[in-house]
Amino acid sequence: MAHNRQSGIKKPPKISVFGLGKLGLPFAISLASRGFRVIAYDVRQEVLQQLAEGKAPGAEIPIESLLNRSKSRISVAENGEEAVLSSNVSFVVVATPSDEDGKFSTTQVERVMEVIGNALRKKTELHLVVLVSTVEPGTCDTIVKPLLERASGKMCGVDFGLCYNPEFIALGEVVRGLLRPDLVVIGQSDSRSGEILVRIYEKFCENDPQIDRMILRNAELAKISLNVFITLKIAFANNLAALCENMPGGNVDVVSHVLGLDPRIGSGYLTGGLSYGGRCFPRDNRAFSHAAEKLGVDRGLSEAVDKANAANNSRVARKVIECLKGVAYPQIALLGLTYKSATKVVEESAAIIIAKILLERGVKIKSYDPMGMGEAQKVLGDQIQYSRSVEDCLNGSDLCIIATPWKEFRTLQPSLFLREMRRPAILDCWRVLNQAKFVRESRLVYSAVGISKFMQIEDDTNLLPFTKHRRIESLVT
Ligand SMILES: NC(=O)c1ccc[n+]([C@@H]2O[C@H](COP(=O)([O-])OP(=O)(O)OC[C@H]3O[C@@H](n4cnc5c(N)ncnc54)[C@H](O)[C@@H]3O)[C@@H](O)[C@H]2O)c1
Repeated sequence: MAHNRQSGIKKPPKISVFGLGKLGLPFAISLASRGFRVIAYDVRQEVLQQLAEGKAPGAEIPIESLLNRSKSRISVAENGEEAVLSSNVSFVVVATPSDEDGKFSTTQVERVMEVIGNALRKKTELHLVVLVSTVEPGTCDTIVKPLLERASGKMCGVDFGLCYNPEFIALGEVVRGLLRPDLVVIGQSDSRSGEILVRIYEKFCENDPQIDRMILRNAELAKISLNVFITLKIAFANNLAALCENMPGGNVDVVSHVLGLDPRIGSGYLTGGLSYGGRCFPRDNRAFSHAAEKLGVDRGLSEAVDKANAANNSRVARKVIECLKGVAYPQIALLGLTYKSATKVVEESAAIIIAKILLERGVKIKSYDPMGMGEAQKVLGDQIQYSRSVEDCLNGSDLCIIATPWKEFRTLQPSLFLREMRRPAILDCWRVLNQAKFVRESRLVYSAVGISKFMQIEDDTNLLPFTKHRRIESLVT
């Protein structure tokens, strides 16, 4: 095995991964798929057991097949010390949930670093520790580095290296995001440590991404800032959607398309629809506010985004109530429960938050989601019904809300709604249905988030004259 004299670490290095959750498990498997020898460790014995058997239950689709192709390069460690002693580089991918103040808890990170530090005491050769978990700026310098130095009795930057290496992947496309990242950010305690990580990424990535190296704190801030900027864009697009709804002929897709064409803005996350959710965006936004305050900077901007996001859920819930005015014992069909498509995550999902508001108003809810039913059931229990299919969900309902833009909802036809629903009415929160078809079907009421009640019907070739506007009525009129 070649020895990289400059870095002081064997090439290719053996890599241990601490934390085999939603990010750590695909990361460990992806590393093995790119030829690295990987030693995986988690405190959850069942995960280690399954991995040792070559299984990755619950992981996104390409992960099990990647594992099949690379399982000879993955082994599991019985304990953290073994993982450190049999590797040259340790990636730490444990959870950092928000605490009550909105800042990230580092309890799991500290536990792992204590184990790694103690094991480093027994090592003679250089070891690199890489923190991947999302943390508040300053965590590596003020918590991780002192802890590792104390536990190991060694010096960071001399006897071992420390890097902060955030992931920017999105759930639903984890493997693509890992193997073909748009950017790689490396915070480094010293340049030798950064260099080792660059070499790993050069072998790991299938593409040739821009790799930015910086001090630890800037990398920590870059991670949350990127997500906060996205939340800002989403909140703006949702505000625009609300505005379009109140403007005769308003159409958020038409307006946001124009914004997206400007390279200063870009088209991503400008759809306008329901509020952002999931585990990262809301949490990173609140952590940014906390970090701003700690650094003596006004937290107003990120806080306003958080408030606007919550207000958008209430606004859509009010819209639903309005649509149901006059309907006795209303029942809605909620299509989509996850915070976005291609994932089963329902945490802070707009669909779940809106469902809770509607339940308080006495609305009966039937739901269907291609992947998120099990997770939703953990949150909402038997307060709502869980249907086996879209048809079953629509059956007997007074209003259908399309709350997650799943691919399978895009091809639904007016005839299905007409056949199954008690009162065929639709609130299409992401405008996934074929609008021209649905608006022209006079036997049902179609409305959409981001589209004016007075809709200008557009097709590929012409804009129909203003006189063709059709009033989208409420169910009672
Ligand atoms: N999931 C994502 O899409 C994503 C994207 C970017 C960043 N992140 C960040 O990555 C980190 C991990 O996220 P996740 O979603 O994978 O979390 P997760 O909760 O799914 O997984 C964390 C794993 O760490 C394990 N663990 C806890 N303590 C441990 C210990 N002492 N030793 C070994 N393993 C231990 C847990 O058992 C669990 O399997 C978080 O900080 C998150 O913010 C996640």
